[in-house]
Amino acid sequence: MKVLITGGAGYIGSHTAQKFLQAGYEVVIFDNLTTGFRQAIPANAQFVQGDVRDQELLSKVISDHKTEAVVHFAAKLIVPESIAKPLDYYENNTSGVMSLARACIANKVDKVVFSSTAAVYGDANVEGLITEESITRPLNPYGTSKLMSEQILRDCQGPHGLRSVCLRYFNVAGAALDGSNGQRTKNATHLIKVASEAACGVRESVGIFGTDYPTADGTGVRDYIHVEDLADLHVLAIRYLEKGHGSEIFNCGYGHGFSVRQVIDQVKIVSGVDFKVTEQKRREGDAAQLVADSSKVRKAFDWEPKRADLNLICRTAYEWEKRSRG
Ligand SMILES: NC(=O)c1ccc[n+]([C@@H]2O[C@H](COP(=O)([O-])OP(=O)(O)OC[C@H]3O[C@@H](n4cnc5c(N)ncnc54)[C@H](O)[C@@H]3O)[C@@H](O)[C@H]2O)c1
Repeated sequence: MKVLITGGAGYIGSHTAQKFLQAGYEVVIFDNLTTGFRQAIPANAQFVQGDVRDQELLSKVISDHKTEAVVHFAAKLIVPESIAKPLDYYENNTSGVMSLARACIANKVDKVVFSSTAAVYGDANVEGLITEESITRPLNPYGTSKLMSEQILRDCQGPHGLRSVCLRYFNVAGAALDGSNGQRTKNATHLIKVASEAACGVRESVGIFGTDYPTADGTGVRDYIHVEDLADLHVLAIRYLEKGHGSEIFNCGYGHGFSVRQVIDQVKIVSGVDFKVTEQKRREGDAAQLVADSSKVRKAFDWEPKRADLNLICRTAYEWEKRSRG
């Protein structure tokens, strides 16, 4: 079975491509390299450089390579940037999904796994765990662009037979346990990446955005999932669709929340570096707490996470950072 991975030169896409190859799939990566890296593409994957909004090219690639399923990562994902440039997000992310859906339908590809996000929930569910039934009320255009994309894919099942699994990732972090891959993102805003860079002396300090949230220590709480556990979930999602299941949405997290302060402390422990931390005002578009109820995905895929350990997540991220900085 051949899988097309859009955005496969990016952080999560490249780790996922590796898991598909290990599971015996053939992989074709389609990426415009705006935030992705050629070096991240696994040696035995095929690569086509292109933009998902180029429907003609995408359709030709699916047809030429006879791909039977698509895993769609390609997107922009910086929340503050989405607030400043909403149309770029609707165009790249939402129009990108329209183009992808049309290319799949034209080629009779009926299986799509889509990268969605906990940002679709906004802050309507700050108490307790978030289930897939929780209210969706995104706080920023990034979250809205993803929620619209989910709806577009869901609407395509009835008339076109296009079945999709939307995986709503919580906070993705960490690097491959064997040290072969990690997060290369430039100007990253992800806390564990930023703190690892500070520990390596690449940044002067780490900012805490908001210390007055209604959480135990006043800082935002998130559910951090190791990138390789998340990558495994994509292989399981394709298998789920191969078995004939219809469209579904699944939360991807562990069900444990950690505050910004707890994460920073953990990166200081694994690195042994007491980097500078600054307290700043809340950032527009951030929720106080996002923690997944992941029971649905555990049951449907018979999945147990293998790397649910904040220390391991921070350690692999820091070690990757240190090694890639020489
Ligand atoms: N990193 C997280 O914590 C997180 C959380 C929730 C959801 N997500 C989602 O996961 C997906 C992957 O995120 P990531 O962290 O790996 O980001 P990334 O920036 O490393 O990867 C995105 C990839 O998509 C490519 N791309 C972007 N727009 C494209 C287009 N129009 N055509 C072709 N290629 C395009 C980029 O070049 C890049 O390789 C995104 O859809 C994102 O919304 C990420």
